[in-house]
This record gives sequence, structure tokens and C-alpha cells, in this order.
Amino acid sequence: MNHVAPFSEKLTKKMNNFRNYAHPIKLGQISFDSKLLLAPMAGICNIPYRLLMEDLGAGGTVSELISCHGINYGNERTLEMLKIHPLERNVGIQLFGEDPDSMARAAEVAESFGPKFLDINMGCPVAKVVTKGGGSALMKEVQSLAPLFEKMRSKMKIPLSIKIRTGWDGNTRNALEVIKIAQDSGIEWVAIHGRTRTQQYTGLADWDFIENLNQEKKIPLIGNGDLHHPFGVSERLQKTQCDALMIARGALRNPFIFLESLDPDYASTKRSIFLGEDYWEVIKRLRQYCEETFKEERTILVQLRKLVVWFAAGFPHAASFRSQIFASQVLQDCMNISEDYFLSLGSSQKFINYDEVFMSSGHG
Ligand SMILES: Cc1cc2nc3c(=O)[nH]c(=O)nc-3n(C[C@H](O)[C@H](O)[C@H](O)COP(=O)(O)O)c2cc1C
Repeated sequence: MNHVAPFSEKLTKKMNNFRNYAHPIKLGQISFDSKLLLAPMAGICNIPYRLLMEDLGAGGTVSELISCHGINYGNERTLEMLKIHPLERNVGIQLFGEDPDSMARAAEVAESFGPKFLDINMGCPVAKVVTKGGGSALMKEVQSLAPLFEKMRSKMKIPLSIKIRTGWDGNTRNALEVIKIAQDSGIEWVAIHGRTRTQQYTGLADWDFIENLNQEKKIPLIGNGDLHHPFGVSERLQKTQCDALMIARGALRNPFIFLESLDPDYASTKRSIFLGEDYWEVIKRLRQYCEETFKEERTILVQLRKLVVWFAAGFPHAASFRSQIFASQVLQDCMNISEDYFLSLGSSQKFINYDEVFMSSGHG
């Protein structure tokens, strides 16, 4: 990836408006470029998307969840998911599984791919994962956590973090108990999505609950949930006691969210300086990253189609753009349609109804 085309001077200048506000932080032993990190998302947080988000200001990134059993069986597709690009600066790999031996063996393999840290998925609500005891089901078995953490750490040299939910359900919001076990077992930081497992993606992330944890925790805490637009992120940044924030879905509809949220005066205007032409530059770069990562044109097409459609959300005529994109069967058609659409937007602003549900399923 020596020859990534630079962004235009115009876009670079716009992005640089925000870079002065980004301060490097340290979570435990690991430094990140800013307090705003990209949260793990299955099917999305692969090399191209992670690289792009780092280019656009994400302080760090995490891979999608990767099965410890897939790694231990030497499954080719799973091992492919562990790969990291040399240009990735601050990336972690997230593992899921349940038993300490399998997780520890997988951790050793994952570490050899060169991430800065490993993370355990303790938030996935999906039945296929929790029925086997992984994901958020780990929060129900608190007595098994210290042995799991210690076994994994005994095989690792890099830091280990966890990503949890507030608890299994409304009656068992035991995040604080889990955090205390984590800090006693040498876990580097905890990221928390402010919902229970039974809530899945319904209701709102409980930020009062998250902020209260900050009174008691001794290791860094990363808050996550419903940080969908720069204004909301910026407001949370001003008042949070969390050491960092993670953004997932917000980065799908607004890839500039990591930068735009940093300047509170700008964010409060709720207008964006990033226009259709800027999105088009971002898409061209994403294509390049995809082409260097994936061999099959079909895989590149599938990746690009879903991302360009999310990027269009809220712009005029986004629905008809979406139909055209999903009808495109060839990469070049997808690019041509995107170019025509994003360049035709001129100075149009996005209007998104953030009260409407957007992507109400995921793995954490
Ligand atoms: C499509 C999708 C896939 C996800 N995959 C993962 C995952 O692999 N690991 C994980 O810990 N969380 C996963 N999550 C959860 C997010 O990291 C995040 O905790 C959740 O979406 C709430 O944050 P948000 O409101 O900023 O989206 C996923 C979420 C979505 C929407």
C-alpha cells in the first residue's frame, strides 16, 4: 500500500481544522491518537475499513469478533481475519469463545499477527454465541472470569482488554463486579456498551450507569452506545469521566465523525463542512484499500456497496441511489454510480432522523 493516492488539498485542509483538537491518550500501556475509537463491528471492521477510519481520525480500532475455535482449527477464513496491515497504527484483535484453554491458545496465535492488544468479546447478545457460553454469557459466569483472564494473559505479551455490556438483564447489571475482577486480573481497560444483553439494541444506552462506574473503577473505562452524531459525541466528550469513547454505527453514516466531534463549537452548529465531493474521495480510497486486501472482485463489490449506501444516508435522493447501487453487479458500475451521485450533491447537507432505529443488531 505504498501508493495510496493522497486526499486532495481541499479535503486535507478541512480535516486539518480538527486535528489540532485530537490529543493522544494512553489507556494502560497503549497509546491512541485520540479519545475517540472505532468500536468493533462484525463484517465491517476489516483492514480496509479500519485503515480508512484511522485516516479519518479514529484514535484506534478493533477488529470484528473472531472465533477462538476457528483459530485453533486453523480455519483459513478465520486466520485471514487476523491479518493486520503494516499501516495500521493502533489496532486490536477481538476474540470470542468461552473456555480458558481455547481462548489462551487462540490468543497466542492472534498475538503473532502483530496487534497492539487483544480484546475479549463479553457483549455479544447473539444466541449462537451465548448458548455456547461466549459473548455476553461470560458476564453470567463471574466465577469463571479470573481464571479465563489469567490463563490468556499467561500466554500473551501484549495487553488484554475486555468489552462488556451493563449486565445480562435489568436485574443483573453486574458490570461493576466484572470490572473489579478485570482490574484484579491485570486487564488493561474495559469498554462498556450501555445496554444489557436482553435489551439487545432496544431502548437507549444508559450513560448515567456508565458514568457512575467511573466513581469506582481503577482501570481505564471506555464508554460506548448511541454516540451517533458529532454533536452528541462532542457533548459526551465534554462531560464524560470515561477515559475514552467508542463509536460504532455513527461511523457508518458519517465517516468524518471522529474529526467533527472534536471541536465543540463546530459540532454545536450541527452543520458539516464535509460534502458529497469529500465522500467521493473517501470512497475512492476505500476502493483502493479493498483492492489491496481482497482478491475477489465480488468481495470488493459487496464491501463497497454497503458502505457507500451508508455514507449516502441523509443526503438527498439517498433511497434511489441505494436501489441503483444494490442493482450494480460490477465494481466499476458501483463506482460510476457513486461518482455521479456524490459529485451531484454540491453543497447539500445530510438530514438524518436520529430517533429512527438504525441497525438494531450486532455482536456486542
Ligand atoms: C453491525 C454490528 C456489528 C457489531 N459487531 C461487534 C463485534 O464484532 N464485537 C463487539 O464487541 N461489538 C460489536 N458490535 C457492537 C458495537 O461495537 C457497539 O458496542 C454497539 O453497536 C453500540 O455502539 P453504537 O451505538 O455506537 O453503535 C456490533 C454492532 C453492530 C451494529
